[in-house]
Amino acid sequence: MRTDVEHAQRLADIGTMASKVAHEVRNPLNAIKGAAHFLRSEIENKELDRFLLLIEEQVERVNGVTTQLLSLTKPLAPALQPATIENSLDRALQVTRPHMMAKAISVNVVRDDILPQIYINEGQMEQALINIIINAIDAMHREGKLDIRLHTLPMQNKSRFVVNIHDNGCGLPDAEADELFKPFFTTKTKGTGLGLAIIKRIIDNHNAEFILRNSENSGTEALFVFPLGGSQ
Ligand SMILES: Nc1ncnc2c1ncn2[C@@H]1O[C@H](COP(=O)(O)OP(=O)(O)OP(=O)(O)O)[C@@H](O)[C@H]1O
Ligand SMILES: [Mg+2]
Repeated sequence: MRTDVEHAQRLADIGTMASKVAHEVRNPLNAIKGAAHFLRSEIENKELDRFLLLIEEQVERVNGVTTQLLSLTKPLAPALQPATIENSLDRALQVTRPHMMAKAISVNVVRDDILPQIYINEGQMEQALINIIINAIDAMHREGKLDIRLHTLPMQNKSRFVVNIHDNGCGLPDAEADELFKPFFTTKTKGTGLGLAIIKRIIDNHNAEFILRNSENSGTEALFVFPLGGSQ
């Protein structure tokens, strides 16, 4: 319980900071980005263009971190609606497609013929799936394989709906699972370490379970496990 309270306090502190930072930095950042974009259209010098592009990209990165921080800390809508996971997955695959194409990664989706209606917030679910898929892409070499399975399984005498996302990448770093889920834990030079913390928060909000583990074969498996049959 103490760990949970400390965790909640830490998130609340980050939340206060995030909304202040977002407020203070977003407008100037967008002005910088707009100015760089305008100069690029006016200047023909290749080297200057490269620097201006760098400014645009890095501003985009700071914007991204700010958005991530906000989504880690702003209150999540508690309202969940019955739906299948299909729309959220389709949209997450659409958003991540350019990243996959850049690394020639192939995706294979295997699903039960009939998907159950579960209680979800489609926007949140899409964000959780995007974060998982981006992590999987980061972990894989070129021509990696991403397997996604959607199926209903009996687990501990109950029926569960399981989303299993399996990459054949480098596998998890040597750290406790709790450690991985902490905000700002990252092994990537350009990582923020907020992706898993956001997923955990979203899946908790769905009364579901989030499991991240090394696969018996190779790479990493991420599972969302939803209880079925009146336990919502
Ligand atoms: N599919 C995976 N395969 C291998 N390692 C993973 C995988 N998913 C997460 N990790 C490990 O967990 C760490 C934390 O992941 P998380 O998504 O929270 O942050 P990040 O990806 O490093 O940065 P961000 O998501 O904020 O850009 C990663 O840096 C990586 O070491
Ligand atoms: Mg990530």
